[in-house]
Amino acid sequence: MFYPAEDVAAGKPVRELEIAVAEGRLEDEGWRLRKDGTRFWANVVITALYDEQGRLHGFGKVTRDMTERRNAEQALRERRRLVGHLVEAQEVERRRIAWDVHDESIQSMVAVGMRLQLLASRLPEPHASAVSGLDESVSAAIGRLRGLVSRLRPPELDRHGLVEAVSAYVEEVAGRWGLAHSVQDDLTAEPSPEAAITVYRICQEALSNVHRHARATRVAVSLSTVDNGTLVRITDDGIGTAGGDAGAGHFGLVEMHERAEAAHGWLSVRSAPGEGTAVEFWLPLLPDVPELEP
Ligand SMILES: Nc1ncnc2c1ncn2[C@@H]1O[C@H](COP(=O)(O)OP(=O)(O)OP(=O)(O)O)[C@@H](O)[C@H]1O
Ligand SMILES: [Mg+2]
Repeated sequence: MFYPAEDVAAGKPVRELEIAVAEGRLEDEGWRLRKDGTRFWANVVITALYDEQGRLHGFGKVTRDMTERRNAEQALRERRRLVGHLVEAQEVERRRIAWDVHDESIQSMVAVGMRLQLLASRLPEPHASAVSGLDESVSAAIGRLRGLVSRLRPPELDRHGLVEAVSAYVEEVAGRWGLAHSVQDDLTAEPSPEAAITVYRICQEALSNVHRHARATRVAVSLSTVDNGTLVRITDDGIGTAGGDAGAGHFGLVEMHERAEAAHGWLSVRSAPGEGTAVEFWLPLLPDVPELEP
């Protein structure tokens, strides 16, 4: 009565009893029927029972309703999948914008700058100085746009690998924010391009948190290869996170967790008041085999 019609037709109940007899016990997960005919996802254990003479006496059967756990697992899987897509789409979009800014805005501003220089060389004073001033503004704007391009799509990541990219970023921002900094590289394997981007983005967010919240004097980043994955630690000597939920409108930590989990890794934040904060995360070198749908 527990089994859906197609399982009965396929002889599943009998087969499960046969296996329970042969092996003493059978465990199965699958669809079963309630009295009212509705289906539920069940965990089933059937145990063969024997009397004193060792004769088969019957079966013990425990059927547990796993519907809620299964729904929760499916919801979690679905969420990870969506976050994965979102993160990927975001990276594609950032790369596109970086190319557009580089190929169009920067190139044409460089051309404008060259014309201004030429013009300045031909004009008498005070016009020459005025035009040179304009040229300097254009150069400064080009510099800022280059910075934007490299934040959108760090060029070192494509050309020189992860450690270079993270070092260049730490160097740039920690220098600007007046933080003592160090990057330690104990990598023995280069992560995949997707994992590298994830590492880079989490470092970006963690460092921006150090700058905005920690009131630290130094920040240290270390990268190592551990358990077939990349382990990264970002520590500061600041005031420590207050702990608990930062509440609505704070997405940095949430996004860091989700990025790490979407890459089949994990992330943890440890902090004690006055002792600074340590953000640690690990991503596998090879993405996991996709989980099987029950
Ligand atoms: N390194 C750190 N030192 C001290 N406090 C921190 C640190 N990192 C995070 N925090 C605390 O944790 C809170 C949550 O960080 P989170 O990155 O999620 O949000 P946010 O930085 O406030 O906003 P968002 O990142 O969305 O712009 C911060 O508001 C801050 O109070
Ligand atoms: Mg933040």
